[in-house]
Amino acid sequence: MSNNKRKFGFWSALFLVLFAIFWVGLLSGNILWTSDTPPLEIISDMDNQPKVKAQAASNFFADGKATREPVEYTVPRNGTKYATSLDDADTKNINTIPVTPEVLARGKNRFETMCTPCHNYDGKGNGLVVQKGFANPPSLVRPEAVAYTDGKIFHVISAGQNIMSSYADKLSELDRWCVVHYVRVLQNGGTHPKMASAAPTSAPIKQQ
Ligand code: HEC
Repeated sequence: MSNNKRKFGFWSALFLVLFAIFWVGLLSGNILWTSDTPPLEIISDMDNQPKVKAQAASNFFADGKATREPVEYTVPRNGTKYATSLDDADTKNINTIPVTPEVLARGKNRFETMCTPCHNYDGKGNGLVVQKGFANPPSLVRPEAVAYTDGKIFHVISAGQNIMSSYADKLSELDRWCVVHYVRVLQNGGTHPKMASAAPTSAPIKQQ
């Protein structure tokens, strides 16, 4: 093969490669210059789907919202009927769990497991992790806390408050109400105000 022919072969190969890169770049939208027009799509791979996104606007419905309101009285699965903010906690979180020795025993058991590291066995604070340097919580037996509604204490356990984290994943709703009742026992010097004779035993009730 002569030198000229070899050169021609090289240049045409280079041209073909660049030509191919150009078309691949052009068709895939990866082009070196910017453009406001959408790239030419041979196969769109479901890039565009006729759908509306959550919270988006839509002129399909009269109210202009793409997302529909749930039907009245809808209860979400795994949702909660309790207040999601402290402002509503007093009125929305209603304690319907009766005070029984079993409930108080369960409350004592859960309180002593979950809460004593910070709030201590008497609820006054200075628990073990506080002695190791964690912020000391305010006493749960001081008059302000005695005046809290059951709903507010339930809310703090469920949602946490400032550096105290939520215990909703560690205590079932029933357990949280039991703990609320037990906090009343601590505040009342060892007996529940509604059940003066029954000091909580240490035998916890079994949960289903
Ligand atoms: C890791 C430590 C810690 C644990 C465990 C803990 N708390 Fe707290 N708790 C705190 C701190 C700190 C505060 C103060 C938060 C703040 O600054 O508002 C607090 C605040 C509270 C308050 C509000 C007090 C007030 O007057 O504002 C209640 C009620 C309460 N805790 C109950 C509980 C109960 C019941 C448990 C167990 C289920 C529990 N806490 C577990 C640290 C803890």
